Amino acid sequence: MPVQDGIVGPVPEGRDAEEYDRLRRRVMWAMPSGLFVIGSRAGERRNGMTANWVTQVSSTPKLVAVSVEKEAFTHELVSDGRVFSVNVVDREDRAIVRKFTKPVDVDGGTLNGFPFHDGPTGAPILDQAVAWLDCRVHSTVDLGSHTLFVGEVADAGFQKPEDTPALRMEDTRMNYGG
Ligand SMILES: Cc1cc2nc3c(=O)[nH]c(=O)nc-3n(C[C@H](O)[C@H](O)[C@H](O)COP(=O)(O)O)c2cc1C
Repeated sequence: MPVQDGIVGPVPEGRDAEEYDRLRRRVMWAMPSGLFVIGSRAGERRNGMTANWVTQVSSTPKLVAVSVEKEAFTHELVSDGRVFSVNVVDREDRAIVRKFTKPVDVDGGTLNGFPFHDGPTGAPILDQAVAWLDCRVHSTVDLGSHTLFVGEVADAGFQKPEDTPALRMEDTRMNYGG
């Protein structure tokens, strides 16, 4: 992976590296995605993290993957605890994703003030999530800045009506990656 002057290559021949870097980022940001809170747990340590690099990756078995920054507390917890939850966020609750961009305070049965309960694997599930998936780590892939944690769905459920609109990146003014 060539990195020159802070720009991650490859850069196509004949292109201005900085201009191409900005263009490539905008194209990657144009990829639509959902926006989730990933719950993690190792022993009595719990965390919630805003993530959009989350998707189903197999139907048999039922696998869902999340790509997690190696520096994130979530990375440590999922590596140790081998479980994670995917919380589908209500579009009306978009403000909560801003609360999960750094390690959370676990206090009196809440994560950053948001009530939660432990799912069947022990990973925390936000009480106000529209729906949740509870996963056990099936495999991991080292991707450089991130690790892809592939989880097998151990349990799943709705907590709000099924037609409740789920939060997507486009509902916010946020970006990630690129
Ligand atoms: C809109 C948005 C999307 C994000 N998506 C991801 C993601 O998919 N993977 C990731 O590792 N971090 C993602 N982040 C960054 C984490 O939320 C952030 O790095 C957080 O500090 C890591 O959490 P932790 O240290 O509490 O585990 C995203 C942040 C924002 C604002």
